Amino acid sequence: MKIGIVGYGRMGRLIREICLERGHTVPLVVDPNLQQAPHRSALADDLARANLNSVECVIDFSLPEAVLGNIEKYAENKTPAVIGTTGWEDKRDAVQTLIDQSGSSLLYGSNFSVGANIFFAMTARLAELINHFPQYDMLMHEFHHRHKKDSPSGTALTAAEHILQNLERKNEIQRETLQRSIEPQELHVTATRGGDIPGLHMVLADSSEDTLELRHTARNRRGFALGAVLAAEWLHGKQGFFSFDEYFAEALR
Ligand SMILES: NC(=O)c1ccc[n+]([C@@H]2O[C@H](COP(=O)([O-])OP(=O)(O)OC[C@H]3O[C@@H](n4cnc5c(N)ncnc54)[C@H](O)[C@@H]3O)[C@@H](O)[C@H]2O)c1
Repeated sequence: MKIGIVGYGRMGRLIREICLERGHTVPLVVDPNLQQAPHRSALADDLARANLNSVECVIDFSLPEAVLGNIEKYAENKTPAVIGTTGWEDKRDAVQTLIDQSGSSLLYGSNFSVGANIFFAMTARLAELINHFPQYDMLMHEFHHRHKKDSPSGTALTAAEHILQNLERKNEIQRETLQRSIEPQELHVTATRGGDIPGLHMVLADSSEDTLELRHTARNRRGFALGAVLAAEWLHGKQGFFSFDEYFAEALR
């Protein structure tokens, strides 16, 4: 496939490598801050100047403040898009409407690593079990590198949604530092930023007797990049609004 990469930072560079390893071409790279283009001819400094018709799909790992404007351009142009950029989760419904109305296709995911998606499935199952045992409370914490813009991470929020869907006694995410005790219906989801940590997520079920702990530790960013390219291959020829969960559920069959 001819794949365009939007956002040529830590993730975009890896995605280009994996596209080439898997036999795709990358005729377009879009990034306003790019110093060194992989091929000068493939470079555009913004999407308005980019030739989206030169690609069959784009993979967007840019920034939260840029991604919604980018998605409008993909929809206008009916360019299939894989969105890895996080930090826009509260606009999900509006984006789905835009994609459905435009007849385009888009797949998004807060975490494209296969291991993280196994972690989501285990989190859902743990919450389902804990539902039967009132002595346990559930909570989440995550760590990421010092450059990360959004907090808590999209991955943490996705795992938290799995808890809310399966644990009847929790119905809201509390992401602030609390100067009071936590209410029973609140799920505390907290974050620490520093170093170069590619992502560490922990889900705890805690009682006065013991602690159950699920942990996903990303070792590097390649797992995310590979998942994004696999998702682009899966999206080819499809129309509509998809999440990585749907790709993953199909992969499990
Ligand atoms: N879904 C996942 O599995 C996953 C995994 C890792 C990171 N992420 C997310 O991907 C995004 C990028 O992460 P990163 O670590 O590569 O960040 P990064 O800061 O290294 O790279 C982002 C790049 O986007 C560029 N950019 C800014 N505005 C742009 C625009 N309008 N159009 C195109 N490019 C633009 C920046 O110049 C920068 O080079 C973040 O939102 C991060 O949370 C998602």
